[in-house]
Amino acid sequence: MENEFIYIDHAATTPVHPDVLQAMQPYFIEMYGNPSSIHRFGQKARQAIDASRTRIAGLLSCAADELVFTSGGTESNNLAIRGTVTDSLGKHVITSTVEHHAVLHVCRELERLGCEVTYLPVNEQGMVKPEDVRAAIREQTALISIMYGNNEVGTLQPIEEIGTLAREHGIPFHVDAVQAPGNAELLLSRLPVDLMSLSAHKIRGPKGIGALYVRRGTQLQSQLFGGSQERKRRAGTENVASIVGFATAMELACEQTTRKHTWLASLRKLLIDRLIESMGSDSFVVNGHPQHHLPHIVNISFPGIRAETMLMNLDLEGIAASSGSACSAGSLEPSHVLRAMSLPESVQASAVRFSMAYDTTEKEILKIVKKIETIYHRLRIK
Ligand SMILES: Cc1ncc(COP(=O)(O)O)c(C=O)c1O
Repeated sequence: MENEFIYIDHAATTPVHPDVLQAMQPYFIEMYGNPSSIHRFGQKARQAIDASRTRIAGLLSCAADELVFTSGGTESNNLAIRGTVTDSLGKHVITSTVEHHAVLHVCRELERLGCEVTYLPVNEQGMVKPEDVRAAIREQTALISIMYGNNEVGTLQPIEEIGTLAREHGIPFHVDAVQAPGNAELLLSRLPVDLMSLSAHKIRGPKGIGALYVRRGTQLQSQLFGGSQERKRRAGTENVASIVGFATAMELACEQTTRKHTWLASLRKLLIDRLIESMGSDSFVVNGHPQHHLPHIVNISFPGIRAETMLMNLDLEGIAASSGSACSAGSLEPSHVLRAMSLPESVQASAVRFSMAYDTTEKEILKIVKKIETIYHRLRIK
């Protein structure tokens, strides 16, 4: 039964790739040394970390010492924001209303500490306007934090333009790029970005490992106190096996991206076209930007059917999708992203996120369409 299930929730998390698991395995019971130890066990672990850091830096076109390993996207966002906005009182931060809670809730905490935060609005497609960023900049602005691609609706933000503005004003620019590797270009030699958050479990790596890119010259205060690991930027014995797994996952994510994007675009088109054919274009709405979006996320509302009802019915039919971010998926809270996009109430309440992987098949998409059609007619007729 489990095999017949279709997992279409890859923006929440992904299964670990067998090559990733294989690369990690020796670091649990053979090369288990503490990377800070002088002896050979320690040296082996240290070498594995150094090699992994170099591999990831090569893929991002940054220097190895610009990467700080963390426990994932949430910690990277916390470190980026709290580590740059140190004496919060009187400082100012610019972010957007559609960021992940791992950015928004850190900003709320900064506000409690006396910082002022501007939460920029987005248009109906979930996009921030660079002009709004320009207008929000003040003398006290200590950080601009805007995500690369939205995890609920997939909309890509104009980060090059925003980063260029930040540079003109000498303000550090942080980008939450957790959903981006393999799905969008991340060449840090080209992008005007100073801090960038990454997480392994969204790209077939293990959970609980990620990284923060910190451009040389960017002041960052460690948020954890203890040992001097990660050049004193993140204390704590390194998660060696997961770091090795993360590097392997990054390599897999960055392989053949053009082919993968073409495939994901064709699956997205198939899903939408078949839904139009079977249910008519009036039965649903596709949320997010029609062109500038992450290739793996399709957010669709079925007005009149609550998202939880659709998701429960899909699960009973063997399809695992989601209503947005994992944190709000367990609660009935409306999505802050859809609210920020000012979508009609009925669209907000009925949004379902389908997030594909490059090994998602046409057969799976066709089965999903069929199941949606059945559920839709069953629920609408009642
Ligand atoms: C855009 C974005 N930022 C941050 C996070 C948090 O990452 P992690 O689960 O690694 O803490 C997520 C995960 O849902 C995300 O999608």
